[in-house]
Amino acid sequence: MKEGRLAGKVAWISGATSGIGEAAAELFAEEGAAVALTGRRVDRSRETAERIRKSGGQAMAIECDVSREEEVRSSLAKTVEYFGGLHIVVNNAGMVQVKQLHEYTEDEWDYLMAVNLKSMFFATKHALPFLKEHRESQIVNVGSISSFVGQAATPAYTTSKHAVLGLTRSIALDYAGDGIRCNCVCPGITLTPMLQEHLEKTGDADAALSARLKRVPLGRSLTPRDVAKSILYFSCDDSAGITGTSLVVDAGYLTAAEWNTPTMEKKQ
Ligand SMILES: NC(=O)c1ccc[n+]([C@@H]2O[C@H](COP(=O)([O-])OP(=O)(O)OC[C@H]3O[C@@H](n4cnc5c(N)ncnc54)[C@H](O)[C@@H]3O)[C@@H](O)[C@H]2O)c1
Repeated sequence: MKEGRLAGKVAWISGATSGIGEAAAELFAEEGAAVALTGRRVDRSRETAERIRKSGGQAMAIECDVSREEEVRSSLAKTVEYFGGLHIVVNNAGMVQVKQLHEYTEDEWDYLMAVNLKSMFFATKHALPFLKEHRESQIVNVGSISSFVGQAATPAYTTSKHAVLGLTRSIALDYAGDGIRCNCVCPGITLTPMLQEHLEKTGDADAALSARLKRVPLGRSLTPRDVAKSILYFSCDDSAGITGTSLVVDAGYLTAAEWNTPTMEKKQ
């Protein structure tokens, strides 16, 4: 068995085909976990799983659209069938839509809510019987800085990410007696395909990114691995005794009321 903070553990990660989910899968495998990489673009997660196996880890790719309950249920069942159990669920899959509320159709609103929020209900519900089999298990939900503040032209995303905090607390409370901890990681500006897509909608992605970074005290964007490290923290014994809380990983973004932070002025 590979050594590490997750040695002997099995993890199911949604949206592991790119960005933060993919980085979490790689980090978890380095820490000894057997990882189920779930997502819609299974060709991509197969490549990552192959890479992990080549470096001595355990990984498998499973196709799963998190907005569909049956696919979530069966991907969890396949994980248990293949690896012999389940200890960690990482609800990471998510999407963003950039438009104002009056521009949404009902279907668009419902779909975003299904991907960002209802997916967590599906995964938690169907993982519970497996998670309860162990003395300790973990659920980590991925929120956002949009779990705490508003952002222009993203009403459905902001609503869904605020709700993720409520759901996290609710799960933590109701299943603490079963040895299940549930926490939320809230990333700030992280360089992933999702961020890129969001920035490109502005017409000038580079300008939009540097304008945003002006209000980040550390003056930099996060890497997917920066965020994955906090997901790992909540998934292992390092966070023993912590449940129902959130950890903001944002290079200081939410601490800054000013537009141009002193750090950025020094750098310019
Ligand atoms: N990148 C950022 O700046 C940022 C900031 C805050 C929060 N987040 C959150 O981090 C999480 C990961 O996003 P990311 O930045 O790595 O972006 P990403 O686009 O690289 O990853 C999102 C993942 O979710 C998957 N996904 C989307 N819809 C799905 C569906 N219906 N079924 C299954 N998988 C689906 C995508 O295929 C992808 O693998 C999301 O929940 C996102 O809201 C990201």
